[in-house]
Amino acid sequence: MSDPVLEERILRRLMDSGKYSIVYEGTLRKIISTMTLRFKKEKEIEKNVRKKLHQIYGAYQNSNINYKLLSISGGESGVDEVLKSHVSTAERMGFYEEFYGKIFDVLGEPGKKYKIYDAACGLNPFSAFYFKERVELYHCSDIDVEANKEINRFFTENGLSNFSSENRDLMVDEIPFSDYDVVFLFKTLSCIERQEKGSAKKILQNALAAPIVVVSFPSKSIGGKEKGMVENYSNFLEELLEDIPHTKSVIHFPTEAVYVILKGVAESRSHRVVENRSSFLWRSAEDIIKSLCRYLFRILLV
Ligand SMILES: C[S@@+](CC[C@H](N)C(=O)[O-])C[C@H]1O[C@@H](n2cnc3c(N)ncnc32)[C@H](O)[C@@H]1O
Repeated sequence: MSDPVLEERILRRLMDSGKYSIVYEGTLRKIISTMTLRFKKEKEIEKNVRKKLHQIYGAYQNSNINYKLLSISGGESGVDEVLKSHVSTAERMGFYEEFYGKIFDVLGEPGKKYKIYDAACGLNPFSAFYFKERVELYHCSDIDVEANKEINRFFTENGLSNFSSENRDLMVDEIPFSDYDVVFLFKTLSCIERQEKGSAKKILQNALAAPIVVVSFPSKSIGGKEKGMVENYSNFLEELLEDIPHTKSVIHFPTEAVYVILKGVAESRSHRVVENRSSFLWRSAEDIIKSLCRYLFRILLV
């Protein structure tokens, strides 16, 4: 049963101190109320709230992000240092330019500008210099209150007037995805599904109010192991898209698999996975070589 007084006490404790004091209040309230329904004792509820917050937020965050490095005197190297403070952006450091280059190649003609919503953005907005030329409008959101403030300051200090950020919880707040051409859901659906079973599907469906959604999954665990993750997440995405007409392309990067999903194509064309060109050609060559080997093997046996 819900207990508003107990919930408020836990909320105050979280907001008054420690690393979760900078988590968006809507998120804290949602997790506290879920745990209050699951557990009885206050101590047990709070312990499980903190555990959940670690899973969805703390595990990705370096507690010593030095936002001062972003000041204009910090220059681009300062931005790179901040990008390295979050697991997801740190993993892209070797290939950020290629990352956006390939994604925008799949989206459409060179030079076209887009209205983009970057959902559960983490520190990714600090990579704006890599893609700002392709932006008509960029809006992002996450549950980190301090990062939100710093992201908006960064946009202002760097004259990115068509860029903005706010705090939003994808499971609590309604987001007007239909106002955008493209929604980024980088490394987010798996994290969301861990918060509540079935939530990834709901969020992907909501995001598909926009014509294009770019989803990504890590191809290695935080500890660096591969453990068949690409295949597992690819199957997971297939399930999420099961009854949604779409076409999609996949682009593989060293630590991340990116899927560009185009909504609303004829049923017969749906579920078609268009591999990026080089891997598609390589697979075709591989198939031909395998067929040749099988043929030669049969001749040798006769
Ligand atoms: C794995 S990180 C990915 C960050 C970013 N999209 C990237 O790829 O660089 C997951 C992000 O989701 C955010 N997040 C977790 N649950 C959320 C929710 N319910 N609503 C909005 N953001 C959430 C976390 O704060 C974290 O920044």
